[in-house]
Amino acid sequence: MDTKDSSTLDQLSDEELTIKLDPGLLPKHVAIIMDGNGRWAELRSLPRIAGHREGIKSVREIITVCLELGIHALTIYAFSQENWNRPVQEISSLMGLLEYYLSTERTKLIEQGVRVRTIGRLDSLPTSARQWVQATEQETAHLDRLHLTLALSYGGRTEIVDAVRELLHEVQDGKLQPDDVDESRIQQYLYTHELPDPDLLIRTSGESRISNFLLWQLAYTELYFTPTLWPDFRRRELLLALLEYQRRERRFGRVLSAISS
Ligand code: IPE
Ligand code: IPE
Ligand code: MG
Repeated sequence: MDTKDSSTLDQLSDEELTIKLDPGLLPKHVAIIMDGNGRWAELRSLPRIAGHREGIKSVREIITVCLELGIHALTIYAFSQENWNRPVQEISSLMGLLEYYLSTERTKLIEQGVRVRTIGRLDSLPTSARQWVQATEQETAHLDRLHLTLALSYGGRTEIVDAVRELLHEVQDGKLQPDDVDESRIQQYLYTHELPDPDLLIRTSGESRISNFLLWQLAYTELYFTPTLWPDFRRRELLLALLEYQRRERRFGRVLSAISS
């Protein structure tokens, strides 16, 4: 986006930004690395958990905006495999917050028509958090307005390892031949096999890295990095990200004339 365009956007209200969006060009699947909760809290001399708590408000608002706009899938990185290396106290606060979120939000999510799924090694979660996750998945399994996927104890490399292991078992059992393995077969064994690849990945907090998120699925995703910290990422920031996405030319390795013809 050039400077002139972004300064023009600065002057627009949220309603005006929404009107500028082309409904036909919205991403079907948005993935978000929700980063910067700790720094948000540190800037206010608060404990890190206060930032995680505030981040839940952003989750709520982003879900609402996705529903309003008709975005069909939202995948959010809530806890990575590597996050197990954080201090025990922070991990247990995050797990508590996950339970709090699911217990307080479940009814609203159902009313909103949100189907909740999770990806990651759920067996690493504490029992009660895992039970909340599984109950929410079951109770929302019939819903279809928004497919919300929570990446929990998730690692992109682990996901690929798990897929390869399953494939090898199938080969060992004689159900699959090595030559049957192609991209679509691998895709079927990923945790995300029911979802299309993300069209747009947003990472907040100014970091320009993927941090082991959806390594296979992001092959042709548009990447959007913003300095905004996750607790500050609300409706307006999502609208700006979507407007930027709509300015991108997705070429998938081809030349543009071949895509439009
Ligand atoms: C993201 O915020 C939330 C999780 C990783 C669980 P951080 O906790 O990473 O916040 P920063 O990056 O330290 O500011
Ligand atoms: C990525 O954020 C994981 C989540 C948002 C859950 P991190 O804060 O853990 O990532 P790094 O350590 O900065 O790469
Ligand atoms: Mg971080």
